[in-house]
Amino acid sequence: MSNVPKHITIIMDGNGRWAKQRGMERLFGHRAGKESVSQACEYAAEMGVEYLSLFAFSEENWNRPEAEVNGLMRLMAKAMVDEKPTLLKNGIRFRAIGDLSRLDASLVEDIRQTERDTAVGTRMTLLVFLSYSGKWDVLQAAEKYAQACTEAVLAQQPVPALTPELYASYLSTAGIPDPDLMIRTSGEQRISNYMLWQCAYTEFYFTDVLWPDFRRADFAKAIEAFQQRKRRFGLTGEQIIEK
Ligand code: IPE
Ligand code: IPE
Ligand code: MG
Repeated sequence: MSNVPKHITIIMDGNGRWAKQRGMERLFGHRAGKESVSQACEYAAEMGVEYLSLFAFSEENWNRPEAEVNGLMRLMAKAMVDEKPTLLKNGIRFRAIGDLSRLDASLVEDIRQTERDTAVGTRMTLLVFLSYSGKWDVLQAAEKYAQACTEAVLAQQPVPALTPELYASYLSTAGIPDPDLMIRTSGEQRISNYMLWQCAYTEFYFTDVLWPDFRRADFAKAIEAFQQRKRRFGLTGEQIIEK
């Protein structure tokens, strides 16, 4: 297939409602969502997507009831172990992005281990955004830039000129191309403090499908919709045709 997005990101939403529809507790939905994650990874790798990123847990999600937060963390730890063979089999390199300092040390160790074990993967990179928020990312980048300026002043060097490229190099997504397509499930049409800087020119696709029900056919529909879009990046339609 041609014109496959290089970087697809998904806001995996609707687990709680999926469980509620079945008269179950919210964690039942999160557990079911794990299967959608495996299938989405396999499908994206098959399609030739280079980067698949998943919003798994936001900074704001820390404010959910303790039992749900703990359950989600346990699920994450289990996924690090359970999914490793699938990642290795499919040549998928795993990386976690976010404020990991808020996670349990043992979970961080499992994450780092999975990152090391899958570093050989060259077919696709899977980025899981954990304890992440777009504002956190923009702020921590600003702090790094301030630090670089301080060091320059102390060394009696000129402060580095602040360009979009330099700023992006301080973001937690440094070196990763911006998402071409952002998919959000469950009918919500908002960004919920996700990649604010990186989504400047991302195409958005919203579906009512709840995350635990998200399957290949739903993913294919999102990619097809993307392929119908005309990305202009501020230019006129005529300029784009000429390019
Ligand atoms: C998405 O599903 C998963 C996380 C945010 C961790 P939700 O838990 O937000 O499900 P709904 O939106 O309440 O249905
Ligand atoms: C966004 O979903 C975060 C993740 C999918 C991890 P939420 O369900 O937390 O977002 P809001 O609260 O509906 O905006
Ligand atoms: Mg939600």
